[in-house]
Amino acid sequence: MLLRYRVLVSNSDTTGVVADENWWKEAVFYQIYPRSFNDTDGDGVGDLGGIRAKVDYLDYLGVDCVWLNPIYASPGVDNGYDIADYRTIDPTIGDMDQWERLLEELHNHDIRLIMDLVINHTSDQHMWFQQSRDETEPYADYYYWQSEPNNWESHFEDSAWSYDEKREAYYLHLFADAQPDLNWENPTVRDELYDIVSWWLERGIDGFRMDVINVISKAHGLPDGDPETPSLTGSEHFINGPRMHEYFNELADDGLGSYNDDIVTVGECAEIDPETAVDVTGRKSNALDMTIFFEHMGLDRNEGWESCEWSLSELKSIMQKWQETTEDGAWLSLYHSNHDQPRGLSRFGDEEYRYRSATMVATWLHGHRGSPFVYQGEEIGMSNVSFESPAQLRDVWAKNFWKRQERAGKDFEQVRDRIEEFSRDNARTPMQWNDEPNAGFSDSEPWIDVADDYETVNVAAQRGAERSVLEYYRKLIRLRDEDDVITYGDFELLAPEHEQVYAIKRSLQSADYTLLIICNFAAEPLTFEPPLSVDLAAEDVTVALGNEPDPALPPILELRPYESAIYRLHD
Ligand code: GLC
Repeated sequence: MLLRYRVLVSNSDTTGVVADENWWKEAVFYQIYPRSFNDTDGDGVGDLGGIRAKVDYLDYLGVDCVWLNPIYASPGVDNGYDIADYRTIDPTIGDMDQWERLLEELHNHDIRLIMDLVINHTSDQHMWFQQSRDETEPYADYYYWQSEPNNWESHFEDSAWSYDEKREAYYLHLFADAQPDLNWENPTVRDELYDIVSWWLERGIDGFRMDVINVISKAHGLPDGDPETPSLTGSEHFINGPRMHEYFNELADDGLGSYNDDIVTVGECAEIDPETAVDVTGRKSNALDMTIFFEHMGLDRNEGWESCEWSLSELKSIMQKWQETTEDGAWLSLYHSNHDQPRGLSRFGDEEYRYRSATMVATWLHGHRGSPFVYQGEEIGMSNVSFESPAQLRDVWAKNFWKRQERAGKDFEQVRDRIEEFSRDNARTPMQWNDEPNAGFSDSEPWIDVADDYETVNVAAQRGAERSVLEYYRKLIRLRDEDDVITYGDFELLAPEHEQVYAIKRSLQSADYTLLIICNFAAEPLTFEPPLSVDLAAEDVTVALGNEPDPALPPILELRPYESAIYRLHD
């Protein structure tokens, strides 16, 4: 097995870049939602064999590390985020033998693999929960049981508590009722979870993406929450809870152990602020290398699936705050799309200008400091889809949302816009490989409908095509391999108040150029003069990448609709 990044360069004299280089800071991650990626056993659900068949494609794209959404045994209420057995692969997705072959194949292509670690909750079908319902020891206190619920709300239901007839008590679930929260106060539970972590690391994986990891510690006694909180009622008692850092340090010592130096751990952290992100990535605890934050994802929506207006200057100020607060101590994952979010192209770009806006939004994201995550399909410009009837919904959150609306007397057409804008199903439609039936994803009817545009938006049509989103992503990813400034350079936001152009400067002491990243976020052309403190001569500027040929050169830029470019400004 040959892994390019095994040898870590630190305190490099030759490049003079920042001291704490790591493979994962230089990596572009690729997120695979296995059930929607590629089906090879003909059951309409993607599988491990399907991923293995596409390792060549991942290599072609140039990504460095794959994150797999959960593939463990699960009843599938939340598509695998309800785990019934942490050490078994779900039979619809494959088996351990296929998983080992996939890992080997990825490593043979210098691509690392991180697994999803869902340890805030299990499935209600997990043996622990079944035993807990019977109060069988040692499982009786593996979950939170109470004779009366408190007033906490769940993400996917109304109350965070459901009644269990067998135990004659209520159990806590911050997500669906089939996802009971584990009682982290119980040291035996924590030991079980650390064993699982070590078990997977021993199998040679390169790290974890940790699901909703900052809600594992709940306030002692589970007090009622403030019903006026803008977030879920009770969230002040479970987000970044009182023992979180203690648990994280324990997880680092007893779970990650000696692997912690080489692997990457990416923590999905609900409602986290930048200072806490610094705390959890080293200042106060050591389990996480980087955080997945959400603030930019909340820009276009209110609570409760209501959209709201947003402005580019607001997006800038959110990103700037995160970039600047985490400058010295923390690393961020950068994303505009994942399996929980509607497609970034539809939110931040414009489907009418698919090529240009998909590539512009990518340039914008990758232009920040952090590790970019590409979500399957993003690299070919997949967009949101339409749902003609509730029968097309698959996501537990969307289905529950619709059920509540129906109970309130609404018909589907009245809420269809909101569902089409926010449903997580938007991101989960099958990967579009070609223009054959089912987009080349499966020979049988897929578990979720294929998007209507697959005949034109697909990998086969874009591979090798000159002006394609896919080929642009390849160049953008390759740029990171070659350019330390884009990886490690300091971030400076230019023209923060400008409502149409997002302009970033990146600089690194050891480099003899700075990068200038320019993105036109609108369908209108415009003339823009980046506020640079130096006078530039034409020969000082080169184009590192642009989504149109021959972009205008600074100082005065004539920008086309959704045009973006990365310039090198030489000293
Ligand atoms: C995370 C996952 C999401 C899941 C939830 C509960 O936010 O990304 O898909 O529904 O946790 O596990």
